[in-house]
Amino acid sequence: MRERGMSRRRVLGIGGALGLVAATGLSASAALARRPPVTGAELRSALPLPPPFRVPLPIPSVLKPVGTSGGADRYEITQREASAEILPGVRTPLWTYEGTFPGPTIESRRGRPVTVTHRNELPLPTVVHLHGGRTPAASDGYPTDLVLPEGWPETAAHAGGHGMHDPRALVSRLTRDYTFPLDQRPTLLWYHDHRMDFTAPAIWRGLAGLHIVRDDAEDELGLPSGPRELPLMIADRAFAADGGLDYPALDPALRERPGVREPYLAGVLGDVILVNGAPWPVHEVDAARYRLRVLNASNARHYELEAVTDDGRRLDLVQVGADQGLLAAPVTHRLLPIAPAERYDVIVDFSGVPVGGRVRLLNRIGSGRARDVMAFRVGRKVTDDSRVPRVLSSDLPDWRRSDAVRVRDFSFRTGRMHGGHGWLIGGLPFDPARTDVTARFGDVEVWRLIADVHHPIHLHLVGFRVLSRSGRPPLPHDAGLKDTISLRPGEAAEIITRFDGYRGRYLFHCHNAEHEDMGMMANLEIV
Ligand code: C2O
Ligand code: CU
Ligand code: CU
Repeated sequence: MRERGMSRRRVLGIGGALGLVAATGLSASAALARRPPVTGAELRSALPLPPPFRVPLPIPSVLKPVGTSGGADRYEITQREASAEILPGVRTPLWTYEGTFPGPTIESRRGRPVTVTHRNELPLPTVVHLHGGRTPAASDGYPTDLVLPEGWPETAAHAGGHGMHDPRALVSRLTRDYTFPLDQRPTLLWYHDHRMDFTAPAIWRGLAGLHIVRDDAEDELGLPSGPRELPLMIADRAFAADGGLDYPALDPALRERPGVREPYLAGVLGDVILVNGAPWPVHEVDAARYRLRVLNASNARHYELEAVTDDGRRLDLVQVGADQGLLAAPVTHRLLPIAPAERYDVIVDFSGVPVGGRVRLLNRIGSGRARDVMAFRVGRKVTDDSRVPRVLSSDLPDWRRSDAVRVRDFSFRTGRMHGGHGWLIGGLPFDPARTDVTARFGDVEVWRLIADVHHPIHLHLVGFRVLSRSGRPPLPHDAGLKDTISLRPGEAAEIITRFDGYRGRYLFHCHNAEHEDMGMMANLEIV
């Protein structure tokens, strides 16, 4: 490997992180062995909760373009307050895209550009990021590229952020056009708010929606489709006595002080599991194969999903895709770990389940009510002409270590910032004015990431492959092209990627949304 441009981080990063682990009396391997299943604390709802598997699974509506010109589709989304009946008989005020949570789904084709005009009618600035999108920097939703509500004083554009001013911010008033070329592998993306310091409460209040990219090659595989392809956005929430969503923000107005109260500093977990915005829903299925497009849109909760029949059998979860699209070949799991922001594309075959039977999707690491996720009830026998081909794709990049011109090390660990608790990358909290990484366009790099507790690390713009975990080969669910890797306590992982697509200012950060708001984000400049 050429060791050109080795950064100082290489020396400091790992040492710093190991120092911290040592200071807390844990060796990295002990932390790994003791590995707590979750990072965060559960907020308890103050309302009676409904029994599981009664509410039907909603499918978010697909947004219609308002216009098509020159091979591009144009959409409009209004961000506004709305309320929804999430718990039966209870009204819950939300922040929404187009009045619903999840927001409407955008369906698009590879290489066919999409422009979305977002209009901010919410009481605070917002900014939209298309997670997993290969997007030019100007439309990538940098956390200070705010869309100000009408009447919001320009001078207060950077409210929050400890008065940090970002001279490079592209601030607009009321509306903004985001352009997505979507010149990328087909996959399930999601769009969500990304405002500096206050992303976690904004997503929690409802600012999240799905965006699917398809292409002809994928259509021709014969995977289950139509009503047998189900997007599943899993998110936990907690409810206050008045029916509103509860969230332990230090500043409930979400303007000045970012972060959350003790004991939620490591992450806010809710005790209600929503799928597509419904609590522990149930969906009637045919005795056939289904394609489940699973997204963990929770702020901090990790899941280990299993599909269990009423007689205790675990169905195979046949993974066909990862964050950034199809695998080379299917990988069969019984248990599928999913960290915040990760997506898995999974085939489940209900044909062996008797009509009237039920399959529960459970979270093995959830406790109490958080153990249940949703259920499927098998309605009828059918003929099924879907297939799961043994070869799914042949365009996965297979970068080799020897392709890398640089190795960088980053530690992800707890620390102090601005006189309070923080989450740091390489010992530093996020600062929009500091360039943390300058990568040369076209370069392949290996990044070594080391964690103290669970940190799902996400890179904007590029997909990457997992090379190793703690010196061992990647895990089965690390297959394919990823944009988010779930680091477990004490773990060091290596990823490899190529910085291409576009030049400009991007980000990488922890997708535990509380960690992200409390500093765990850094700038990635591609030049
Ligand atoms: Cu889901 Cu910065 O992203
Ligand atoms: Cu992203
Ligand atoms: Cu984290």
